[in-house]
Amino acid sequence: MKNIILLGPPGAGKGTQADLICDLCNVPKISTGDMLREAVASGSALGNEVSNILDSGALVSDEIIGSLIKERLTMPDCENGSLFDGVPRTTGQAQQLADMNIKFTHVIEIHVDDQDIVKRMSGRRVHPGSGRNYHIEYNPPENEGYDDISGEPLIQREDDKPETVLKRLGVYHDQTKPLTDFYTKQSEAGFLKFFRVDGSNTVSGVFESISKQL
Ligand code: AP5
Repeated sequence: MKNIILLGPPGAGKGTQADLICDLCNVPKISTGDMLREAVASGSALGNEVSNILDSGALVSDEIIGSLIKERLTMPDCENGSLFDGVPRTTGQAQQLADMNIKFTHVIEIHVDDQDIVKRMSGRRVHPGSGRNYHIEYNPPENEGYDDISGEPLIQREDDKPETVLKRLGVYHDQTKPLTDFYTKQSEAGFLKFFRVDGSNTVSGVFESISKQL
């Protein structure tokens, strides 16, 4: 069984690699970002509560994230492990996951320098229905502006504006980056395997580094 965490700054390529890793390891993706955006798109009470937070680049509360994860883990596709994309993001969330008795096997940090992130984000395009990601230059769809699988139009995320990306990077360094020390210690104690990959490589190059370690 593999329970894998993907850590890294906004735009490091977590979502892109998550889809490839899920195919490789045959586990479902648990992306709190995708779940929250789905809630906003559906107009649910949760969506209305978090919509402004997402647009501002701040983090949603640990309580909301904890209950989303708890509910998602009751679904049968998680029985043989899961890939956690962009969660945990705070030490509080890491503690919540530990309290849920999830035994993590791998923690992968995708590293990309801050100056490269803003450039990446401005070129990102997303299929809102599935969360599939493209980049106009580095990972373009077959038909410009349209999803490869559904043929539906792609959009630009509201939180990919340069000023919001800078805010998200600040939040990452303050609240999420400390988790790399937390999981490095767990790795040194033999509880799981922590490794860092260079996310500035090509999509296939990054995936090759990850698959070797998995
Ligand atoms: P979330 O959706 O999780 O956003 P994020 O972590 O900021 O990450 P992104 O989705 O922006 O980037 P990514 O690393 O997945 O990169 P991608 O593969 O898309 O969260 C959004 C918001 O939701 C948060 O700000 C917060 O408000 C809230 N939230 C979510 N989870 C939360 C939690 N646990 N707690 C509290 N709040 C939470 O790639 C980016 C671009 O680069 C794409 O265009 C892609 O095609 C391209 N690209 C990918 N890899 C490469 C490569 N190797 N070379 C060149 N280009 C590449």
